[in-house]
Amino acid sequence: MSKIKWRGGALVAPVPPVMVSCGDMERSNIITVAWTGIVNTVPPKTYISVRPSRHSYNIIKERGEFVINLTTAELIKAADYCGIYTGAKVDKFAKCGLTKEEASGVACPVIAEAPLSLECRVTDIVELGSHHMFLADIVAVDVDEALVDNSGKLHLERAGLAAFAHGEYFELGKKIGYFGFSAAKKKKNHTKKSGK
Ligand SMILES: Cc1cc2nc3c(=O)[nH]c(=O)nc-3n(C[C@H](O)[C@H](O)[C@H](O)COP(=O)(O)O)c2cc1C
Repeated sequence: MSKIKWRGGALVAPVPPVMVSCGDMERSNIITVAWTGIVNTVPPKTYISVRPSRHSYNIIKERGEFVINLTTAELIKAADYCGIYTGAKVDKFAKCGLTKEEASGVACPVIAEAPLSLECRVTDIVELGSHHMFLADIVAVDVDEALVDNSGKLHLERAGLAAFAHGEYFELGKKIGYFGFSAAKKKKNHTKKSGK
């Protein structure tokens, strides 16, 4: 494979185009964020990187809370809308027909239509440059009960999760492995050998 060398750029893909809700049940906003991820398992920590010019920036900074709502193929039009229009001018919950649901660990609303939401409390703000990173503890998770089977196993593969890669949206589709499958023991083959 012969490579072209470019200067450094923000080109990790795919990333999740999440809808971040902030504020409280009365005065809330949604900002779409792709610069997010998990940075620690115990305690569970996440981050979102937000430009200070965003309307949501001061809301999150002042309140120290936000909710990361995962998006699906069904929600992707709303996610795109929330990433284009500012909450300074429009009520994005109303415009997108989204429902506010009470969170258990923060005052911000959870988006009821999202399959899974992470309730987050800000612990640090790191001023990186164009974006400031809100590092946060994940204090509660809200998950659609239809995605959890009788044994308590979460089936996120049934959610139709959305991915964002270099300006375009995709729906996760084909399963191509699972955690640790490369080291899994092969099942014994009980079929009779042909004798060849
Ligand atoms: C797919 C997508 C990803 C985005 N990711 C980010 C991001 O990571 N950080 C950010 O500050 N803005 C991001 N934006 C832009 C904001 O969502 C956009 O400026 C939004 O209108 C801000 O809303 P607000 O002014 O109501 O806060 C993204 C937009 C889209 C469509």
